[in-house]
Amino acid sequence: MRLLRALLCLWLLAEAALASRVRTRRELGPGLYEHGVYDAGGSYCQRGDVCCHGRNDGCTVPYHDTLCYCDLFCNRTISDCCPDFWEYCLGIPAPFPKAPGCARAGRNYPTGATYRENCNLCTCGPGGQWQCEDHACLMDGELIDAVNRGNYGWRAANYSQFWGMTLEDGIRYRLGTFRPSPTVMNMNEMHMNMDSNEVLPRHFDAAAKWPGMIHEPLDQGNCAGSWAFSTAAVASDRISIHSMGHMKPALSPQNLLSCDTRNQRGCSGGRLDGAWWYLRRRGVVTDECYPFTSQESQPVAQPCMMHSRSTGRGKRQATARCPNPQTHANEIYQSTPAYRLSSSEKEIMKELLENGPVQAILEVHEDFFMYKSGIYRHTPVAEGKRPKHQRHGTHSVKITGWGEEQLPDGQTQKYWTAANSWGTAWGEGGHFRIARGVNECEVETFVVGVWGRVSMEDMPHK
Ligand SMILES: *[C@@H]1O[C@H](CO)[C@@H](O)[C@H](O)[C@H]1NC(C)=O
Ligand SMILES: *[C@@H]1O[C@H](CO)[C@@H](O)[C@H](O)[C@H]1NC(C)=O
Repeated sequence: MRLLRALLCLWLLAEAALASRVRTRRELGPGLYEHGVYDAGGSYCQRGDVCCHGRNDGCTVPYHDTLCYCDLFCNRTISDCCPDFWEYCLGIPAPFPKAPGCARAGRNYPTGATYRENCNLCTCGPGGQWQCEDHACLMDGELIDAVNRGNYGWRAANYSQFWGMTLEDGIRYRLGTFRPSPTVMNMNEMHMNMDSNEVLPRHFDAAAKWPGMIHEPLDQGNCAGSWAFSTAAVASDRISIHSMGHMKPALSPQNLLSCDTRNQRGCSGGRLDGAWWYLRRRGVVTDECYPFTSQESQPVAQPCMMHSRSTGRGKRQATARCPNPQTHANEIYQSTPAYRLSSSEKEIMKELLENGPVQAILEVHEDFFMYKSGIYRHTPVAEGKRPKHQRHGTHSVKITGWGEEQLPDGQTQKYWTAANSWGTAWGEGGHFRIARGVNECEVETFVVGVWGRVSMEDMPHK
């Protein structure tokens, strides 16, 4: 009898020890509900199709960063039951208030869940309501529709490369030319020798006059370095034209971005006069030799990887190999001093006709990013919206020609054709047309031309 009692005692002790050990282990799991962690949408037991009718440590489902239980034992502590344990396994309502969660497209999402709506992040708030950021987006469906419905003379499109960006980021990362300082603005204008009744053609396309010498539009990506891209683009064309096609270098914007650093800020913007100074005094190599690598994702300025030294008479020679190891041709190309043209439409046309593409600053407004085709004019489509939807910043582009179109009402609409640096998938093959003769978006305010520095000895002997 005594032995039996002792045995029973031992057994009870052992059982108690086992239970406490198990409970201790299970109670290590955080009291998720007590700590405010709910998962409103949680169909854990149901999804795993588990409901164990005893105490079963194996009856668990991954839950947040821990595990929850679908066995009867969990019902004693509540803290480690899966959210749907009561409903799915016991068929009774859960003994705690259900977090409301947020509904979207027929699904319920837990508090703290997020999704992106174009450029805005939406978060499921504690009250069961989605709370969305309120940025102006670079691509705005309403504005695209408004432009296309209105009679503005151009069409708008939704660009996937801009989708999800804020307008502010578009202004910050897709432009990148500092407005010329008053001293530079007051630079003497160079006047073309023009007869007041000189007749210029109604249409002009530099690529038709100089075939094979006008380079394709560039792509600056999310690098606010249009100062370097437009300068390299104009200089490339002009060197090709002035060497009569003996040299057709596509000059390297990266060379300017990384090496022309005096008062310049690389992919955070730069000045046109500084770019031309560098091109004249230091020169740059080709894009093949020094390819474009800068991105906004690499905010640290990249070190300059090309250097040159004087070889006399202002000419220079590279003292470094091409950063692109596949290319050996590291000739340095230079320009003569750049000159500012007058803002007269006719003089700009004459310069283009005689000497090739010119560089122009352009004040870019919110609707320009959506330009697809036609003759651009800044539209008032964003005027009904709050001020943050109406933003602008300074850019620079390469003007390559002009033309005119007859409007249905019989009026003539004159335009410039220009190359942008947002890739060839944007606009009309990377180009755009913009109203001419009315200083639209300041396109006629600051126009620059330059001569490639070309002499007979530069010409390869054939
Ligand atoms: C589980 O919990 C609920 C609510 O607290 C209770 O009504 C029910 O009796 C419990 N079931 C078991 C098997 O312990
Ligand atoms: C614009 O394009 C993106 C992807 O390229 C697409 O997800 C989005 O729904 C489009 N928006 C509109 C308003 O067409």
